[in-house]
Amino acid sequence: MIHDGNTKIIARLHKQFSPRGLNIYNPYFEETGLNAAFLLFYNPDPKPLVAGIKNLNISGAVTVGFETDAQFAKLVDEYDESSTVVKRVGFIKNITGKLRGYYQGGLGQLLSIESQTSIKNKDLVIVGAGNVVRSLLWEISLRKKMPKSVVVINRTPEKLKDFNNYEFVKQTGGLDLLSKLSGDVLVNATHLGVREPDTLFTGEIVDKFKIISDVTFEKEDSNLILLAKKFGKKYSTGRDMFTYQGLVVLETILDTKIDPKILKKHVISGLSEVVK
Ligand SMILES: NC(=O)c1ccc[n+]([C@@H]2O[C@H](COP(=O)([O-])OP(=O)(O)OC[C@H]3O[C@@H](n4cnc5c(N)ncnc54)[C@H](OP(=O)(O)O)[C@@H]3O)[C@@H](O)[C@H]2O)c1
Repeated sequence: MIHDGNTKIIARLHKQFSPRGLNIYNPYFEETGLNAAFLLFYNPDPKPLVAGIKNLNISGAVTVGFETDAQFAKLVDEYDESSTVVKRVGFIKNITGKLRGYYQGGLGQLLSIESQTSIKNKDLVIVGAGNVVRSLLWEISLRKKMPKSVVVINRTPEKLKDFNNYEFVKQTGGLDLLSKLSGDVLVNATHLGVREPDTLFTGEIVDKFKIISDVTFEKEDSNLILLAKKFGKKYSTGRDMFTYQGLVVLETILDTKIDPKILKKHVISGLSEVVK
């Protein structure tokens, strides 16, 4: 690994200690010869962390635990629209002393879907209405080629109201709608998988779609992904999303292209060590 005066440092700022990322990004830099290092900085107080990023000229940081921290938000100088849309800061970039905040969830999920298919003229069904979905819809709206239709359903349908502002969102509703839907791509962007037991997705539902995309990253073979495999569907997993989120972070901070295949290999081996 090259470490010299030009080495770009990416920090993991975190409130609760976890080495996640350390054994993903550094092995990636090593394998690809990128002159960068990923380091952990733990402190529940955001002030010294943010001051450190500026004073030590660190290139950028992921902001785990500080995403919605009001004190942290005040220390960030400006926000990309990706961050403004979800009111969350997923990572920051140090642009000649000014810190700019971003959120990578929606683009990470969109790139994960696009690793299997273009969304142009496709019928998408998205389950969920949280940060990932809010951000995903905004990222879709930035694409030149629009899907034919997007249907968004959620356990709490009240949370879907403003999604109808997007022209491509043709329908919204509760989870009971799912059994009546079909399309090209089915996206799970909820806690259903590992954090919450999945009692929603069945073979009958999965079989009505061509491509399945999941966000569950704690294990790659979620119930949904196992069903996708069983029914011979194309699929992208939560670990693909994790990979593409990482790609968005690294490409933005380091201003260089990242190879998703190599990064995914390190996501798989790195996560297996820290996510049990
Ligand atoms: N693979 C990755 O790299 C990656 C990155 C980011 C996030 N994620 C995962 O993506 C998921 C969504 O993240 P987020 O930030 O959007 O979360 P969020 O804002 O908290 O939204 C959670 C969503 O899950 C739904 N949900 C939770 N429990 C449910 C249940 N028991 N049954 C049905 N729906 C349920 C919620 O429905 P209600 O609105 O009804 O509560 C809501 O739509 C999380 O599980 C997170 O771990 C993965």
